Amino acid sequence: MNMKNQIIGIVGAGAMGSGIAQVAAMAGHKVVLFDNNPGSLEKAQTSLHTNIHKLQEKGKISNAAEIFQSISFTSKIEDFAPCKLIIEAIIEQLEVKKAVFAEIEKQVQDDCALATNTSSLSVTALAASCRLPERFIGLHFFNPPPLMALVEVIPAIQTDPKITDASVALMQSWGKTPVQAKDTPGFIVNRVARPFYGEALRIYEEGIADIATIDYAMTHLGGFRMGPFALMDYIGHDVNYVVTETVFRSFFHDPRYKPSFSQKRLLEAGWLGRKSGKGFYDYSPDATVPQPDTNPEKCQMILDRILAMLINEAIDALYLGIAQESDLEIAMTKGVNYPKGLIQWCKEWGASKCLAVLDDLYRTYHEDRYRASALLRKMADEEKK
Ligand SMILES: NC(=O)c1ccc[n+]([C@@H]2O[C@H](COP(=O)([O-])OP(=O)(O)OC[C@H]3O[C@@H](n4cnc5c(N)ncnc54)[C@H](O)[C@@H]3O)[C@@H](O)[C@H]2O)c1
Repeated sequence: MNMKNQIIGIVGAGAMGSGIAQVAAMAGHKVVLFDNNPGSLEKAQTSLHTNIHKLQEKGKISNAAEIFQSISFTSKIEDFAPCKLIIEAIIEQLEVKKAVFAEIEKQVQDDCALATNTSSLSVTALAASCRLPERFIGLHFFNPPPLMALVEVIPAIQTDPKITDASVALMQSWGKTPVQAKDTPGFIVNRVARPFYGEALRIYEEGIADIATIDYAMTHLGGFRMGPFALMDYIGHDVNYVVTETVFRSFFHDPRYKPSFSQKRLLEAGWLGRKSGKGFYDYSPDATVPQPDTNPEKCQMILDRILAMLINEAIDALYLGIAQESDLEIAMTKGVNYPKGLIQWCKEWGASKCLAVLDDLYRTYHEDRYRASALLRKMADEEKK
């Protein structure tokens, strides 16, 4: 099965769908971009025209007109008939997505692969609603697709391995960095990154440190590009909180992923972060910028606690076969720009040190949230030997 040089169909001309259309067109495909909202199609047409021509102005491409013309914009689902891969990027609702795939399957040939860009739904559940579930796969792009190299490739339990291999090859041919993940909540990035936000919120809610101090510890001491609170404000609490709550629910309420009331209240108040001018921080021009407490012991304690939780999450994902080690490392460094892979960090730090931090938290709180992964315990044992 070869998807190269084939016509690619995209459902949903929003932020993700139009970005994926640009990536496919720039890789030389003919693209059919479908949306049921004429306003979305019009907006996508204008923004794609601008984005592609801007690349030409910057000297990055010389065939902007040709690339733009290879994308057709349509509100007729029948136009998917000649496609060999359809990537769906519509609203994140299971029933709506299922209905769209049922319609698509009536239009395309049996050898057309079907993919979803879902961030939080089960790929297997979506595949199950298709007539031919073995041709179904998850292709999770990051925002904005033309700039973010990482793509999580998520086979459903029904997916034919040939579809998985062809998808990986196709993403490579598009200049992307594909990693493979098991179909479990949050895949790799949205699972492993949860403690970056969750443990920072917990430290803040307990009154151990304020937001400026936690952000300072993670950036200055940890080398992260943004601190957790600045990053949550940047992503927007409507997105970040909803991902956390969905992951928590999908993990059968595992306390490791428990959402925070402080963040929920921001969402309820409409203090969504940067885009609304206020979140954890105040972005109005005359706002006073909160100053961190740069006490070295305090900052080290904050970094150790959040990092130990992150490492534990990555090690547990490895233990449970969610992804292979190299893919876990690539996902966190390319998908969310972590300064180092978390497993590498564990090796440098020492698994015993990480385990000691977690066991100490477990003794203090008596909460399942702080349980160390069996693999981390094994690694610490091996270190001693
Ligand atoms: N935004 C992100 O950062 C991000 C990252 C990775 C994955 N995702 C996932 O990608 C998908 C799309 O997200 P988005 O941010 O691009 O959303 P968006 O709201 O920007 O765009 C969704 C588009 O789908 C269209 N649409 C809705 N229902 C439709 C239907 N029944 N038929 C055809 N078109 C329909 C809408 O008109 C809209 O243009 C979601 O599943 C989301 O979880 C989003």
